[in-house]
Amino acid sequence: MAGSVSAEHEKIKQFDWEPSYFHRDALYPTKYKIPPKTKDPFRTLVREYVGMEEEKDDRQYGALEDALGRMNNAADAEPRFMEAMKPVLALVDFGEYAAMKCTAMLVDTVENPELRQGYLAQMIDEVRHTNQEAYLMRYFAKHAPDPAGFNSGFQMRAFDPIGRPGRAVFEAFMNDDPITNSLNLQVVAETAYTNPLFVAVTEVAAANGDQATPSVFLSIQSDESRHMANGYSTLAAVLSEPDNLPMLQEDFDTAFWRQHVFLDNFQGAVYDYFSKVRMKSYKEYWNQWIWEDWAGSYIERLEPFGLQVPRWIHDARRHVDWGGHTSAMVSAALWPVHAWRSDCMFDDDFAFLEDKYPGWEQHFGGFWTAYREMSDPRNGQLALTLFPEMPPICRTCQMPAVLPRPDINEIRLNIDAAGQRHAFCSEACQHIFRQAPERHCGMTWWEVNDNVELWRYIVDAGLLRSDGKTLMGQPHLRTDEASLWTIDDIRRTGVVIKDPLKTIPGEAFVAI
Ligand code: BEZ
Ligand code: FE
Ligand code: FE
Repeated sequence: MAGSVSAEHEKIKQFDWEPSYFHRDALYPTKYKIPPKTKDPFRTLVREYVGMEEEKDDRQYGALEDALGRMNNAADAEPRFMEAMKPVLALVDFGEYAAMKCTAMLVDTVENPELRQGYLAQMIDEVRHTNQEAYLMRYFAKHAPDPAGFNSGFQMRAFDPIGRPGRAVFEAFMNDDPITNSLNLQVVAETAYTNPLFVAVTEVAAANGDQATPSVFLSIQSDESRHMANGYSTLAAVLSEPDNLPMLQEDFDTAFWRQHVFLDNFQGAVYDYFSKVRMKSYKEYWNQWIWEDWAGSYIERLEPFGLQVPRWIHDARRHVDWGGHTSAMVSAALWPVHAWRSDCMFDDDFAFLEDKYPGWEQHFGGFWTAYREMSDPRNGQLALTLFPEMPPICRTCQMPAVLPRPDINEIRLNIDAAGQRHAFCSEACQHIFRQAPERHCGMTWWEVNDNVELWRYIVDAGLLRSDGKTLMGQPHLRTDEASLWTIDDIRRTGVVIKDPLKTIPGEAFVAI
């Protein structure tokens, strides 16, 4: 019946159409020129795609149901690791949704049938990933050792001080020029960061006794090489038009820094502080996948075409030494506002962290020793009171502006013409803000919650367990009732959320 697969492939590429249902000029215009014929990123599409995806879905859901029925595997996983999966799944699932929107926009914008076929198939992948991860969250909400938090991930990512920067960085997949979105998603997030995100989580999850996550994340990651090919083809197409180069470099530099500043600090905290059975340090993953493979091999190969490695890659490299530790410390100090538990660090954790990051104990050991002592509600002390002031939040990336480490932080304080104060975590975030202040005018978590009593915030954000009094977040993994913090313990501390930017003397701020 059918002709050769190659002939069918050629035929399908001709199924391009002139839309009559909208005016293309008005919808998602791009400032970039795209040639009508370029490399075809999706040669496997017709040959294998549908059959391969069906088989993978059957295998994955079948394996999960099996595990669920026969051994209730998730209940045996390391509780510390399962806590990290609460924010990881809630945030990455939003990234999938934004990736779906990104590729849908590209389909509507890019007048190149070969690229468009690739985007279309990726869009279908991203719909599937969105569903797979939502399914995994549902599975954990039933079977994790402590399910509280898996059921409220979607809500958490809007409220939580870590959820907000996570959501903002994935919004960069869908809130700009479609080609700029593609740089954020396909060229940076997928090509550089899906290895540490999806491959590393698979090996760490398996080592920590969670077999459900690898079955989902391996299935997802096996799509990413095709998404990377979409990014490469898009980049090659854009580079083939010399007029594109100046704006491409600026957008590329921005995309790299924005993805780095959230993903490296978040992933550093996840892998270095939430593994019980430890694999590599996050810095080791970074050096291999971001520095050597992505910047050193993939991007440097594009230099003859005029694209330089991202402007702030050396700043990122310097920050990776300590940024994850600083973020983990700030996050742990804010444990009562999270929907997950932030475990204490013990002797073997201290040894690992000092071994992988020489000098760690001098800078962070004191905090984690005090944190452990303060983890008992009978002491009535919250770890956030260890700091004279909590750090301001960066207006651009929404991360704490004490990076890479409090004593060598690179904070910049500015005031705008309207008298509004801004903190930036780095030269890069300050530069990005200056390019388009109107894109980064959202309120920080401190500004939204300034002067709110901590206990009231917890109640309003839905952070109590089903008994109506015990917090979802806890500063340890103990389960005996006397060790669990309740809303009354928090009320007794009298802590009120304060925006630290307000108390800094005015002379510290310079005009933006
Ligand atoms: C993706 O769907 O490709 C993706 C999702 C979240 C983060 C990075 C990539
Ligand atoms: Fe995806
Ligand atoms: Fe993807």
